[in-house]
Amino acid sequence: MSDYLQRRTFAIISHPDAGKTTLTEKLLLFGGAIKMAGAVKGRKAARHATADWMRLEQERGISVTSSVMQFAYEGKVINLLDTPGHEDFSEDTYRTLTAVDSALMVIDAAKGVEERTIKLMEVCRLRKTPIMTFINKADRDGREPIELIDEIETVLGIKCAPVTWPIGMGRTFRGVLHFLEDRVYLYRRGDRNRISEAVCLDIFGSEKEIGPDAGTLMEEVEIVRGASPIFERSLYLAGEQTPVFFGSAVHNIGVRELLHAFVEYAPEPQPRVATSRIIEPKEEKFTGFVFKIQANMDPAHRDRIAFMRVCSGVYDPGIRLYHSRLGREFRISDAITFLASDRQHTDQAYAGDIIGLHNHGTINIGDSFSQGEKLTFTGIPNFAPELFRRAVLSEPLKLKALKRGLAQLCEEGATQLFQPLTNNDLILGAIGPLQFDVAAFRLRNEYGVDCQFEPAKVNTVRWITAADEKLLLKFKHRLMANLADDYLGHLVYLAPSAVSLNLTKERWPDISFQATQEHIG
Ligand code: G4P
Repeated sequence: MSDYLQRRTFAIISHPDAGKTTLTEKLLLFGGAIKMAGAVKGRKAARHATADWMRLEQERGISVTSSVMQFAYEGKVINLLDTPGHEDFSEDTYRTLTAVDSALMVIDAAKGVEERTIKLMEVCRLRKTPIMTFINKADRDGREPIELIDEIETVLGIKCAPVTWPIGMGRTFRGVLHFLEDRVYLYRRGDRNRISEAVCLDIFGSEKEIGPDAGTLMEEVEIVRGASPIFERSLYLAGEQTPVFFGSAVHNIGVRELLHAFVEYAPEPQPRVATSRIIEPKEEKFTGFVFKIQANMDPAHRDRIAFMRVCSGVYDPGIRLYHSRLGREFRISDAITFLASDRQHTDQAYAGDIIGLHNHGTINIGDSFSQGEKLTFTGIPNFAPELFRRAVLSEPLKLKALKRGLAQLCEEGATQLFQPLTNNDLILGAIGPLQFDVAAFRLRNEYGVDCQFEPAKVNTVRWITAADEKLLLKFKHRLMANLADDYLGHLVYLAPSAVSLNLTKERWPDISFQATQEHIG
């Protein structure tokens, strides 16, 4: 039962190309989950090559296994959840962050805080997710470390507590100085594919090994120490402070120090909020929620998989689980785990673990499972899409099939459908542009519907509620032309621009405009 205490479930957030894939590989290498770097990279190359669907499908075949990577390190069982990042960036990326207990933010030392990181950080902030920061590519001529720290603090609004500090930068980068241990780790750059060995020295008396720049480094470190807060785990756990590490994923420098701190300080599985009560991970009875659904992934297993985060209790094959939304019990005997590179049958899973359930259309995102208790976990919302397109049918008679197809795709969660109150348009919203290609391809192949997506004059959506019914009616009456139903029938405001959203909010102060919508089943 107490096995959950060893679980550490996290995701990496970063802008494309900051080094997420490279770092993931190095972490798996440390965990012994892969023997040589290159395994994860190869998958990424396949993803990148082209956005055409056949490739995509191949990629999806792989991504079920790389969606969750479990490995052991220093007595802990680490679940690393993949956050789709490049063309496959989608709402799944955001929702995955609702299933973790902490996140690791990777920042490119030359580029600093980038746009995608800002967005992902906003999602982390919704749940005050604890965040560790890895400033990568210190081996490249980048920006000054102090400037980077300053940028994280001002742009992301989080206090930085440096834990390691780079020794040299760019070509002279050789290792890190550890603030908590008062040690220096000097590396010899070696084989990219192996774990590099470091010489570990006491900070005092290490000048000779550090070399001629030792004096400047020590002065800089004194200034940084004086000016920055000391790492405090409680502040990190509260999401108010981020410990910062410097390194180079590709050269494997500073990664071990990061991983070591991660297993020491990152939070164990945390309690989860349901509408009726808070569920503690130590509870004996099983509970869990679904945060992601993937369809037709592995050509060898053409099915849909629902990814469930275990929140309490233990999964044992054959367990009977109560599906709260449907009010029915199911026997689950063949959940999937993601331990190695292939799908495996799970023997047992504990709070913090992710299991994959075969889904024949009965499981939706946000669904809660338990052993008998009617439960609805909160905090697994739909996020306001950022891109919008209008579906245009080649054959108008296929409207019914189109609607059915779009509704089904919505259940998988990568796209959302909006139906304006004043016309018959079907507007699809997504967070990554590739989702429209995916939707068009799947509508053709799975529903026999030829459909194109044209630009729609929508900038963003907000879910609308109001305590005062009369006021809501008045709002509906006045803004009818910009209102729509989402695929679950919730009222949304389709904002043509950010300016009009702000103006409308100002004019209607007692109407609530939400950027996320909970799945309350
Ligand atoms: P991503 O998943 O965040 O998109 O990034 P990824 O790991 O694929 O890294 C993007 C590029 O940055 C890769 O180069 C990778 O090798 C490089 N990179 C990652 N970490 C470091 C680092 O610590 N130092 C330096 N100098 N480069 C780093 P690429 O040219 O796209 O691929 P490759 O040919 O090097 O494999």
